[in-house]
Amino acid sequence: MIKIAPSLLSADFSCLKEEVESIETAGADWLHLDIMDGHFVPNITFGPLVLKALKKHSNLFFDTHLMIENPDKYIQEFVSAGADLITVHAETTPHLHRTIQNIKSLGVKAGVSLNPSTPLNVLEYVIEDIDLVLLMSVNPGFGGQKFIRSVVCKINALKKLIDEKNLNLSIQIDGGINKETAPLVVEAGADVLVAGSAIFGHENRKKAIDDIKKSYA
Ligand code: DX5
Ligand code: ZN
Repeated sequence: MIKIAPSLLSADFSCLKEEVESIETAGADWLHLDIMDGHFVPNITFGPLVLKALKKHSNLFFDTHLMIENPDKYIQEFVSAGADLITVHAETTPHLHRTIQNIKSLGVKAGVSLNPSTPLNVLEYVIEDIDLVLLMSVNPGFGGQKFIRSVVCKINALKKLIDEKNLNLSIQIDGGINKETAPLVVEAGADVLVAGSAIFGHENRKKAIDDIKKSYA
């Protein structure tokens, strides 16, 4: 089963509660929360307070994508606020193994994200310890960017690695996903699709989600 994870980054920030409800009733599987610090990425978004406020109003799985330097400093706070999965960028931590253990010790799922230019081999010695790999299909920082096609080969290679090792690991793709690009990444082996502008950019959230689902059915 392919999961759809709408990214809150493209929502109307003046009414986040209603925006989350709109995608929950429209059939979203996860809620993707983009945390940006203005250092690792040029943009600044929101922190654990916003997760905590929304968690009270949603049963969605809180998929938390940390695009911040020094992630270890904030993992505990995001877990307390309601994160169900914490994904860190391999580029942000010199002790990736320790960071993963830190996330798992708090009882939530652990993911590792790679920028478009970061090779898969950084995962070699941690792949058996994680629940999800997030391959960025844009350079992180903003919604509404163009899908970078070289990620398709990267998904194929990751899928091969996962199958060879017989691992139970999700492949999540983030950036430029819409009804044109979704079939490409699903075909290559992705099973969690993040979409921001392709969902929140449309009034009818149900139709937007259904259109993406239909594109690879
Ligand atoms: C980008 C974020 C994405 C972003 C995707 O740095 O990690 O989650 O919201 O937005 P779209 O789907 O519009 O490319
Ligand atoms: Zn994201």
